[in-house]
Amino acid sequence: MIKTGIDKISFYVPGTYLALDTLAEQHGIDPAKFAAGIGQSKIAVCNHDEDVVTMAAEAAAAILDIEDRAAIATVLFATETGIDQSTAASVYVHKKLDLPSRCRAVELKHACYSGTAALQLACGHVTRKPDRKVLVIASDVSRYDLDSPAEATQGAGAVAFLVSANPRLLEIEPVSGCYSEDIMDFWRPNYRKTPLVDGKYSTMKYLGALSAAWEDYADQGGRAFNELAQFCYHIPFTRMAIKAHKQLSHQNQAQNDPNLYEPGLRYNREVGNCYAASLYLSLVSMLETAEADLTGRPVGLFSYGSGAVAEFFAAVPQADYRAGLLTERHRGLLDDRRALSYDEYLGLWHAPDPQDGSATTMRQGARGRFRLAGIEDHKRQYEAV
Ligand code: COA
Repeated sequence: MIKTGIDKISFYVPGTYLALDTLAEQHGIDPAKFAAGIGQSKIAVCNHDEDVVTMAAEAAAAILDIEDRAAIATVLFATETGIDQSTAASVYVHKKLDLPSRCRAVELKHACYSGTAALQLACGHVTRKPDRKVLVIASDVSRYDLDSPAEATQGAGAVAFLVSANPRLLEIEPVSGCYSEDIMDFWRPNYRKTPLVDGKYSTMKYLGALSAAWEDYADQGGRAFNELAQFCYHIPFTRMAIKAHKQLSHQNQAQNDPNLYEPGLRYNREVGNCYAASLYLSLVSMLETAEADLTGRPVGLFSYGSGAVAEFFAAVPQADYRAGLLTERHRGLLDDRRALSYDEYLGLWHAPDPQDGSATTMRQGARGRFRLAGIEDHKRQYEAV
């Protein structure tokens, strides 16, 4: 079978964040609860002129050259915080990136799982058409009610990757283990701006889905636990991944070794939850910060989307994969950010909401090339600066 997988990968996060120490101080909470109990230090916060489209365009623009653009036959946009109930966010990005019109561009949704659905669909596509490429973008803004327990697990970000035959970074292995179950652990009815979440129940269901997806992975002929050199998990907050790895180690009668997952937590700890993008931010974190050379050494990935769908699969870093990573750019994006005061954060949390159709101009805040200039006649006006 033809080898398919990730040829290039990049992420983008907004230039502003709320330090969780600031949130803890404001709410009179011991900062150790967020640092150790939740496992987060910062949450990325979008400016009013940033959304899933602008972050997606920023992430994707960093990896595409002229040849890639010409070869892209499909754009798959994974999000659960889309900006329209009908039009796909992918068409805005398609236009902003100047991609060929002979291309399909769609949006996929299943809570935090849809990035993995997009990746698997993309691998299938390039198996049939090995001379073409698929651009996958996972982009989300995680925003919970103020003063709720989930507030500390907000975040925002986008990850873009190019899926091709004979990829330079990672081969995605064909075996995967899946699990689906109709549950209400986290959901957002159409009339709500913030999701409803039963956090403790969701944590329990996540762990149950991991166990079931792993069993299916093993039954399908997947790799043994001790063959996997690193593990990346969906990360609503990094402590969740720590719990996940402890359980998976126990399930396989293996020692719980933090070195097997710690590199995959580093970036997420500073960004917070970015839903569909979270697992892939963890993947970038692992590839870019693991001390060991992982060439030819399979790594395990676990994807979970509330509601719920889960999948366990493996990827193999290719020869010289480190040369294809954008490590310096990504470290710069994380380091070159401004901390918000609590009042500034509140101001950004309450985004403009022109439901009556009134024209709205967005104040300049985005640090990237792409921004939402305003909304006019219910139409979002994007610009590239
Ligand atoms: N020092 C260290 N740890 C502390 C602490 C302190 N001072 N205070 C509390 N903790 C620990 C608690 O013991 C608990 O640890 P445990 O998970 O091992 O039991 C942890 O911090 C969380 O605190 P807790 O009070 O139990 O939870 P909470 O009511 O603050 O809610 C979540 C935490 C994660 C449930 C909540 O943030 C949430 O719902 N987040 C959204 C989850 C989500 O996104 N799910 C859907 C996608 S998978």
